[in-house]
Amino acid sequence: MTDQVIETAPIVESVSKTREIRRAYDLWSYIYGEVAAPLEHGPRKLALERASIRPYEKVLEVGIGPGQILVEILKRVDRTNRVYGVDLSWKMLVKSQQCIHRAGYSNASLLEADARRLPFADQVFDVVYSSYVLDILSVEDILIALKEFRRVLKVNGRAVLVNLSKQNPQRHMFVEYLYRWMPASWVPYILGGCRPVFLKGLSREAGFSGVEREFMGGLMSSEIVIARASSR
Ligand SMILES: C[S@@+](CC[C@H](N)C(=O)[O-])C[C@H]1O[C@@H](n2cnc3c(N)ncnc32)[C@H](O)[C@@H]1O
Repeated sequence: MTDQVIETAPIVESVSKTREIRRAYDLWSYIYGEVAAPLEHGPRKLALERASIRPYEKVLEVGIGPGQILVEILKRVDRTNRVYGVDLSWKMLVKSQQCIHRAGYSNASLLEADARRLPFADQVFDVVYSSYVLDILSVEDILIALKEFRRVLKVNGRAVLVNLSKQNPQRHMFVEYLYRWMPASWVPYILGGCRPVFLKGLSREAGFSGVEREFMGGLMSSEIVIARASSR
């Protein structure tokens, strides 16, 4: 697939409201770590490798879920370096806190916040990592969130994004049929609100540069997008 095709590929519009997403993930929090997260293990592991986080770097994870990735990030930074994580769901934050505590770390700060309105000053982070969060948002909101990621990143900082995606934009995936077919109010509870997206073009539109996309097939076929916040 050429870059041009991927960058302009159509994205199925989101059907989920924020209130429903929060409520659904409060429920998902009881089983997400055991049931859903293992299916996404491969792409997230590869994304963390590609992120090449250095011990002194300031890292923010957006949409931390049950906290397993945040623990992986904590393993990669100095114990004196504070890592930040935000999520919309209070119950996911509680799960995350337990997971971090069990892993023996005390240098994480978790906050209840929305990816579209991050409670941080401009240019604070070297890395913003986010997996399977932007693929829940409407196209308009993805762009708002990406601009927000760029705002909080230092010049030359990197956004590391993992999302459901597909190899061939022209071919519909089973999950897309399900997404369109089922009542909109079920989508957050059954599919977690996620559908395949393409973030290379949107990342450029949000002002990122040096945007790279890597596709990884499998049950949860995903893209890993690395984007640089160059000078403003
Ligand atoms: C599919 S889970 C992914 C969790 C984790 N990132 C992972 O890869 O395992 C999506 C998470 O993003 C959170 N979330 C959804 N919409 C969000 C938003 N607008 N801002 C912040 N978090 C959001 C949900 O509450 C949930 O914890």
